Amino acid sequence: MIWIEELKNYIGKEVEIKGWVYNRRSSGGVRFVLVRDGTGIVQVVYIEKDAEEKSFDIAETVPLESTVEVKGVVREDKRAPGGIEITGKTLKVLSPAQNYPITKKSHGIDFLLSRRHLWLRSRKQNAILKIRAEVEKAIRDFFDSRSFTLIDAPILTPTSCEGTTTLFDVDYFGEKAYLSQSGQLYMEPAAAAFGKVYCFGPTFRAEKSKTRRHLIEFWQVEPEVAFCDLKCIMKLAEEFVSYIVGRVLEKRKKQLEVLEREISKLEKITPPFPRITYKEAVNILRKHGNPTRYGEDFGGDEETIISKEFDKPVMIHHYPKKIKPFYMKEDPENPELVLNFDMLAPEGYGEIIGGSQREDDYEKLKKKIEEHRLPMKAFQWYLDIRRYGTFEHSGFGLGVERTVAWICGIPHVREAIPYPRLLDRIYP
Ligand code: 4AD
Ligand code: MG
Repeated sequence: MIWIEELKNYIGKEVEIKGWVYNRRSSGGVRFVLVRDGTGIVQVVYIEKDAEEKSFDIAETVPLESTVEVKGVVREDKRAPGGIEITGKTLKVLSPAQNYPITKKSHGIDFLLSRRHLWLRSRKQNAILKIRAEVEKAIRDFFDSRSFTLIDAPILTPTSCEGTTTLFDVDYFGEKAYLSQSGQLYMEPAAAAFGKVYCFGPTFRAEKSKTRRHLIEFWQVEPEVAFCDLKCIMKLAEEFVSYIVGRVLEKRKKQLEVLEREISKLEKITPPFPRITYKEAVNILRKHGNPTRYGEDFGGDEETIISKEFDKPVMIHHYPKKIKPFYMKEDPENPELVLNFDMLAPEGYGEIIGGSQREDDYEKLKKKIEEHRLPMKAFQWYLDIRRYGTFEHSGFGLGVERTVAWICGIPHVREAIPYPRLLDRIYP
């Protein structure tokens, strides 16, 4: 058996492929069957004089998405999708599909999400998830090639990292635990042990609002670097995002074409990225008549307005302390601000990275934990990092689905993950 993506190496040869019927049509005495096997789609042409008699009949009636086995000769044909087609000899139905629910007509999003396990077979979903897989590989390659150590963070945790309003409670043998919102708190101690580390895995937020940027379960990659300040971590972030986009352009052009993504926009993503302060961001909003006042956080609408000002991702730094989590380091020049940054993707895609320099002063951090009304007992281990050889360090988290949605040019994160968990949906 040959995989469809390898057929180009078998021109003129007789091959056997297996797959599912993607589409079919008849025209005069010719029957076309499009077969897909996950690695590609190929057109098999059955002509009465060349095909086995029974197979010629099957080619007219085989239901869509039936599993089939095809034997035939590979031919080069400029007009065929992919430049290759098969002159079919036999067509065997290995397992018939009955009334496959997803048809060529357009379906509503609820209908498709309820059939996500089947929707994955469609061409567009295949392209998106191939790009996601490439993004994930690029993420690992970037950090591995810079001698970061991968440190897996736990999923079950006694501490909250990103506020207490989006926690998922778990009963941990009679004690309260949560699903992790972020691996960050575990990367900081690891940075003292390994210097440069990252974790990469699923994180969870019980987000009560439905937006095109929020998932309940999403994947985050979180590097943490010792002896690195805000400026240093922002530089790492722009090199990282440029690397990921570059890799997709290099390896996944075909998939970007399936998605009709404007490639020239992605080709612009090279360092340096623009940097603006929170204050400058508020001024941009004011210029556009947005009512956000200094000191307020940005929502999706605000992010869209700001990101549309730039054709590269923009990094907004030095936010007011009041609207940011407890672990961010105070700006020594203005204690009302923190040494943090958010990166917004262009074209209105909003925040893809949140990061900061970490508070490394024991007393200040303890005070912040109190101010945020977090349980001091649960954070003792985290405070240890400031007790035993504290050090300047910084890190960030990049959301995989928002990054994939932006690179693919799709409006909603729900298609950027194989099985999305949404506010009103845990099925399939
Ligand atoms: O900005 P956030 O909340 O930062 C943190 O969790 C830090 N502890 C990371 C760190 O410094 N190690 O989340 C980081 C990124 C966001 O920029 C966004 O891309 C993504 O995670 N994200 C979500 N993606 C999808 N659905 C959600 N509900 C998300 N919440 C955050
Ligand atoms: Mg954030």
